Amino acid sequence: MHIRKTPPPRRDFVTPEDSIIAACRAMNASGLNQGTSGNISLRQGDGMLITPTSLAYDRMEPADLVTVGPDGRASGERRPSSEWRFHHDILRHRPDVNAVVHAHPVHATALALHGRGIPAVHYMVAIAGGADIRCAPYARFGTQGLSDVALAALEGRTACLLAHHGIIALGRTLEQALWLAEEIEVLARMYLTSLQLGEPPRLSDDEIEGVRTAMRGYAQV
Ligand code: 13P
Repeated sequence: MHIRKTPPPRRDFVTPEDSIIAACRAMNASGLNQGTSGNISLRQGDGMLITPTSLAYDRMEPADLVTVGPDGRASGERRPSSEWRFHHDILRHRPDVNAVVHAHPVHATALALHGRGIPAVHYMVAIAGGADIRCAPYARFGTQGLSDVALAALEGRTACLLAHHGIIALGRTLEQALWLAEEIEVLARMYLTSLQLGEPPRLSDDEIEGVRTAMRGYAQV
């Protein structure tokens, strides 16, 4: 068990560690995630700060977070999330992104169990950057293979589903990535519900482009 030996220092500002822990707790409180599933990272210099592996979010303290350098080397009291590879690769390949949220939300994951993404059935699909939210093919958790398929599914997008697994949402800020993750889950829930009446019609690529233009400056959480 991790026992804190000294009282936490008094702080009057929100640190990156605080904001990651708050986001982890928020994603479980909202039902976006459950248990110790999921993980969150924030760009830190040329590396990142990431949640530790398999630690309950309500027990997590700032000292539990792990720093991973540009070479992938971790430093901290704990081991980094088993998914540190895709966090590391996404932050390395996507200069537009500073925060990565991974979660196992029920409705989006239900689609991903079928290997299905979210097509342009609702105009809000455009918030992830294009006319669909792709589902990456299955690869085992914690592997370079999963990182590779996730990165490909995220090409030109800020979110994707992971087959038989969950979702990834990206943001310039952690607040934005978490907001996007919640929106993806709502879209998945709408799509799943609509499938009871059959496959819904899709918006055209032109319409999604128009929505993207109209939205510019809208999704700036
Ligand atoms: P970690 O506890 O190692 O972050 O793993 C949780 C998870 O969701 C793996 O995909």
